[in-house]
Amino acid sequence: MYANDDLQTMVRPDRVHRRLYVDPDIFEMEMDRIFGRMWVFVAHESQVPEPNDYVTTRIGRQPLLITRDKSGDVHVMFNRCGHRGVKLCATAEGNSPGFRCPYHGWNYRANGKLAGIPYRDGYSDEFLKDPSLDLARPARVDSYRGFIFVSLSPDGMSLDEHLGPIKGSIDDLCDRAPDGEILAQAGCNRYIVRANWKLQMDNGVDLYHAPFAHHSTLDEDGRQFSRHGGGPSFYKPGTKNPVDFDPMGVHGFANGHGYQGAVPQVPDPDGMAFKELKAMLVERHGAERTREILTYDRFNSMIYPNLTFQAMGHHFRLVMPIDVDRTEVRIYPILFKGAPDAWNRYAIRSVAATHSPASMIQTDDVAVFERAQEGLQAQGSDWVMFARHMGAETPNNLGGLGAPGSSEFVLRQQYNDVWLKNMSA
Ligand code: FES
Ligand SMILES: [Fe+2]
Repeated sequence: MYANDDLQTMVRPDRVHRRLYVDPDIFEMEMDRIFGRMWVFVAHESQVPEPNDYVTTRIGRQPLLITRDKSGDVHVMFNRCGHRGVKLCATAEGNSPGFRCPYHGWNYRANGKLAGIPYRDGYSDEFLKDPSLDLARPARVDSYRGFIFVSLSPDGMSLDEHLGPIKGSIDDLCDRAPDGEILAQAGCNRYIVRANWKLQMDNGVDLYHAPFAHHSTLDEDGRQFSRHGGGPSFYKPGTKNPVDFDPMGVHGFANGHGYQGAVPQVPDPDGMAFKELKAMLVERHGAERTREILTYDRFNSMIYPNLTFQAMGHHFRLVMPIDVDRTEVRIYPILFKGAPDAWNRYAIRSVAATHSPASMIQTDDVAVFERAQEGLQAQGSDWVMFARHMGAETPNNLGGLGAPGSSEFVLRQQYNDVWLKNMSA
């Protein structure tokens, strides 16, 4: 455990100490104080659409079971038997009216109530009425437009306050669906990355890396984008050069959230029913709001500490720490409720071509995250630098700050204002 004074020496206005990424003690504290205190995204309600549907996940390292009961209510519970603590459900998702513990056979309903105990004569009626035998629940659960967040701390700001202006990114995403809802119902791509969880989050709104880490895609061949076809071009029209990323801008807000602005000069994509989708949205929202949500004024967004929306809302990404040097990343294609089938099929194909383990975009990133984890073992130089466009921030019209697209200020703000504050006793 580090005292506040020690933590303060590790975070400076333009850099953080490499220990943040490689020290198991820091990781333990993060599980306690970041994932144990802040609002953390856990699942989308559309993952349990029908009565008795369930999914399992984690908050920090604690297992969660999320269900929809027969009356349609969603429950977020710890995935832990009330008898001796065995993880109750071992499968990723499914449909079941109840759960039986594999150890001594205690039975639970989908709503988490203890339904029955074998050999019940060994227990008094009094004992079996104890509600603490039911599945325990995290201190606070709340949701915004289907995105379920959990806080393990009974106190602290509301979800609404935590999200603040980044709710606009969730709104833009959901409003792109003709029925106003997104569906996370196309499975997910899962990675176990041999790197610290923050390396993936540091990358959430990082435009600086794109021309280099993704050179094979952004060069004149445009390999991955040309492979799946129909997507927007990332070249300046009539040239072989990638678009300039600085004019896109990057925006940061309280509590560590941020987003990147629109890709300039990107024409409407051809095919994939984009024109039909656009017509449906104009009907629902009018031309101006449709322009806003479809020109991707928020191209990538990051909701600290563990959720990002990437690539014009084709997927959301859940970052799940396992250990100081191991992270699970889940990449969920986003389907738009009410959209033409061709659009939703394109979304799945696009994520497969850019962010599946068989792609060449997310795999570029994973390769550099693992190399960062290795490089940060070196003792000669202790600092991880976030100094780009230092001091170029100016107030934006949403109560946050904006800066040139390749600025690292969102990370400066995140570590200095959010990470340090939450990690301090
Ligand atoms: S641990 Fe679950 S029934 Fe014993
Ligand atoms: Fe990347």
